Amino acid sequence: MKKQQRVLTGITTSGEPHLGNLVGAILPAIRASNQPDTASFLFLADYHSLIKNTDSDLTHTSSLEIAACWLACGLDPDKVTFYRQSDIPHIFELAWVLSCLTSKGLLNRAHAYKAAISDNEQQGTKDLDKGITMGLFNYPVLMAADILMFNADFVPVGQDQKQHIEMARDIALKFNHHYGELLTPPEAQINEVTGILPGLDGRKMSKSYNNTIPVFANEKVLRKSIMKIQTNSLEPGEPKDHENCNIFNIYKAIATESEVLDLKKQYEEGMGWGDAKNVLFENLNEFVSPFKQEYEKIMKDKNFVESVLVEGANKAKEYSSPLMKQIRESVGIKGF
Ligand code: ADP
Ligand code: TRP
Repeated sequence: MKKQQRVLTGITTSGEPHLGNLVGAILPAIRASNQPDTASFLFLADYHSLIKNTDSDLTHTSSLEIAACWLACGLDPDKVTFYRQSDIPHIFELAWVLSCLTSKGLLNRAHAYKAAISDNEQQGTKDLDKGITMGLFNYPVLMAADILMFNADFVPVGQDQKQHIEMARDIALKFNHHYGELLTPPEAQINEVTGILPGLDGRKMSKSYNNTIPVFANEKVLRKSIMKIQTNSLEPGEPKDHENCNIFNIYKAIATESEVLDLKKQYEEGMGWGDAKNVLFENLNEFVSPFKQEYEKIMKDKNFVESVLVEGANKAKEYSSPLMKQIRESVGIKGF
């Protein structure tokens, strides 16, 4: 029998679910979870949220919203292992073991840390580490523990996370070298088709940039956020280039092939930006509407979400508990 491949991914619970999460992570992961040869581990990276903010209400609310989003989009918790990172203590125990194997130099090269240093440099701050927490610095180690604790083969992520998966691989190989072959070196799976969905300002759609389209917002908010998408100053009647257009690139992620071709033709014929935004709004509203109905229902039933996650955590621990026991013993932490 063909070996099941294990696929694992997580979303940080530090904001409302947005269209980038939906088309870049949630929908493809649900599709993959329906493949017979795949075992999926999908989780809420709630302790990762503390790296980004100290707003406890935000982390808590976002955990519920993101869990509800997965379920509303059709995730079948019986087919996958769906859990909250914070419910699995073994991840944090493994994170310590891994941090003792990870050279500081490797973490000095992590993009998130380097970006924070570079911000300080640009602002002329004398202490380049100003405002940088150990949480941010150690973030790749916690992420490696998330992945290695479940011996994931593949990790579907956005392009910006590729470096973290490579680091997890390095760390796994180092562990195996010192303590024996217990951890699977993972591989990143970058979705080339969806690629990076641009946000309202053309940069990657991201909670960190405040440029997202919140998929489950009411129609008014959804329309308002679409009207904010940045365009160039070409007037109606002038032919428009679809390739570098944010409206078009967002539309491409949700529309059918023929709808995309149709919009392209209308661009060439000089469609105005206002009309293009309306087409995107109508299409997006229709695209999210079945998910939104489910989402609203699930958001009202917190007990249901909680019970799904508790059951998921129990399933996850059936895997993490024996592996952590082996890891502990292999590093020499065991009874006499
Ligand atoms: P954010 O950048 O808003 O903090 P997350 O890092 O929590 O988003 O994203 C979780 C996952 O959602 C990522 O690994 C990626 O697969 C997907 N994702 C997020 N933003 C985008 C985007 N703009 N385009 C495509 N996929 C995205
Ligand atoms: N850091 C990821 C992000 O911001 C979220 C995440 C945390 C993750 N742990 C993970 C993704 C493990 C994949 C595997 O997108």
